[in-house]
Amino acid sequence: EASLAELARRKGLRFGSTIGGANFRDPRYRALNAAQCGLIVPENEMKWAATRPDAHSFDFRAADAIVAWATEQHIGVRGHTLLWHSEQWMPGWLATYDFGREPQKEATRLLTEHVSTVAGRYASVVDSFDVVNEAIDPDTGRLRETALSRHLGAEATIDLAFRTASRAAPKAELVYNDYMSWQADDGRHRDAVLRLLDGMKARGTPIDALGVQSHLGSKYSDSPTGLGSLDERAWRTFLDEVTGMGLRLLVTELDVHDNPLPTDIGGRDRLVADHTRAYLDLMLSYPALRTIMCWGLSDRYSWLNGSRPRPDGTPKRPCPFDADYAPKPMRDAIAGAF
Ligand code: XIL
Repeated sequence: EASLAELARRKGLRFGSTIGGANFRDPRYRALNAAQCGLIVPENEMKWAATRPDAHSFDFRAADAIVAWATEQHIGVRGHTLLWHSEQWMPGWLATYDFGREPQKEATRLLTEHVSTVAGRYASVVDSFDVVNEAIDPDTGRLRETALSRHLGAEATIDLAFRTASRAAPKAELVYNDYMSWQADDGRHRDAVLRLLDGMKARGTPIDALGVQSHLGSKYSDSPTGLGSLDERAWRTFLDEVTGMGLRLLVTELDVHDNPLPTDIGGRDRLVADHTRAYLDLMLSYPALRTIMCWGLSDRYSWLNGSRPRPDGTPKRPCPFDADYAPKPMRDAIAGAF
């Protein structure tokens, strides 16, 4: 049977997933990824927290190992992420970093050095970078303040990251990646994303696409029981506005948080698959969408197991393949949507 990568390719799409850490060391999981993915993205290995032990050095060993493996397997690589615009996920040293007597200059230097070094190192392999990740505080709709933006301003920080990435990797697709709180009915997060993208376009910031993370049924998109709970019209209006700016769309981190769903595994898998299918049908109705990435292929390694356990204590089933690497209904839902 054809792989998801092959089925996607037949429709002019790219399909892939994330790999990294312990799951990258599992030969069976690597084989599953090699078989199913045309594209992979390191789960944590290209982030500041992994590449920057301190302000003066870089550590590329983990990222290089994934890139080397992917290249060997003839799998493309996405880059994630050159700047996580949130203190929580940046390395601890940055929060207490001494920016000296000319903090604006030093913040510019540090960010420019980081983005040009990482994007430049992988520019010959990575043809699409999540340049900036999650810049918006969903509770206020404002851009987050970070150690860097405190000295540069939030918009200038984001612009600088994109401009630097564009110089270091001129051929790469440059993406702003976010989760959009897309089922929150107040639309505050979505509106803030539109304001950000609009501003970037107006300022001539080199951005090519919006990455829609697509953690379905997550904290900000609560009920994974079909698209009934999604305000489809509001979501389409949002996507229309984004594509109307001339931006492409990517599904960058698809999984389905099956936390509130019932214990019966068959029923749960069915709901997860139906939700995936309805969501991808909607997304793929946009010709601007060519890339679909899962955030993990197998339930065994889903990051969602790390938080908010299911009330019945059973393992989560958010991915297209189960913990023993067997295909689930979600796999067929993805294949069917292509
Ligand atoms: C997650 C990883 O999967 C975890 O291993 C890590 O502890 C935290 O980050 N949005 C993103 C990804 O953009 O980088 C996150 O990945 C998942 C949510």
